[in-house]
Amino acid sequence: MENHTNDPTMNVSSLNCIDLTNDDLHNSVLSLKQACLDSGFFYVINHGINEEFMEDVFEQSKKFFALPLDEKMKVLRNEKHRGYTPVLDEILDPENQVNGDHKEGYYIGIEVPKDDPHWDKPFYGPNPWPDSDVLPGWRETMEKYHQEALRISKAIARLLALALDLEVDYFDKTEMLGKPIATMRLLRYQGVSDPSKGIYACGAHSDFGMMTLLATDGVMGLQICKDKNATPQKWEYVPPIKGAFIVNLGDMLERWSNGFFKSTLHRVLGNGQERYSIPFFVEPNHDCLVECLPTCKSESNLPKYPPIKCSAYLTQRYKETHAELSIYHQKT
Ligand code: OGA
Ligand code: NI
Repeated sequence: MENHTNDPTMNVSSLNCIDLTNDDLHNSVLSLKQACLDSGFFYVINHGINEEFMEDVFEQSKKFFALPLDEKMKVLRNEKHRGYTPVLDEILDPENQVNGDHKEGYYIGIEVPKDDPHWDKPFYGPNPWPDSDVLPGWRETMEKYHQEALRISKAIARLLALALDLEVDYFDKTEMLGKPIATMRLLRYQGVSDPSKGIYACGAHSDFGMMTLLATDGVMGLQICKDKNATPQKWEYVPPIKGAFIVNLGDMLERWSNGFFKSTLHRVLGNGQERYSIPFFVEPNHDCLVECLPTCKSESNLPKYPPIKCSAYLTQRYKETHAELSIYHQKT
């Protein structure tokens, strides 16, 4: 079996590291800006989530995926994109993949009860939760993690605003991160990828939204390609750093910033080891019109992308990448 972690010829990326407790704000913003211009990938450390809690979250995630398939199918993904996604459910790079991604997932969004006036919006609503008798404490752990990750995302967004020459609280508005769409996803990867055969743990893609905070269990697998137009494409591993998030910008922020900030192509290769990760996808409010930011255009640099509404754009991207739910209902 190929062991990617011991391959001396392997390309490894070196990314900037943003320390959220750094008092030198100017320096943090410069370093962040450089990362956003270069690859849109960086590490975030000293974010305030302690290691023990992080281990707890991964333990609970493992417990869920270890359940029998029929138990997991009880919380199958619904039309709000919440719940369990079986192996091969998603295909991120249909041109190069022979079948779907070799991963299972579990989407958890912002819990919006049915008596909330906004509960029926796409990506809002109540989450399905595994039975608390089967997985005691599971929901509480995940809800706490969701809250913490959102807090960190907002702190990063303030630095991003400064890096874009905007007011520090630019993204804090209600129509942006004041009332955001924010979805975490537990993932378990299994199997060995073989790009020459079109088999991937996670096919090449760029993320849909504003930014993603990725926590991983330390198993290598994530790769980025800084220049998608190069032939051949050059893929570099992003090594996990203990206690750090790997943060990447998504396509919405690339559009928002008029292509100034990068949303970089990435993928995951499996090496036979089980791998767990938890991306946390951050998007502005449903109704947010994502159109060129005031600081990213000029007479000689006109907006390159038409404005899009956040929820419509996201809905379309999810539709393109996930199986029709009806296939599961035919099987049962
Ligand atoms: C994703 C993703 C990477 C990983 O879910 O969008 O890129 O390491 N995940 O799981
Ligand atoms: Ni991704």
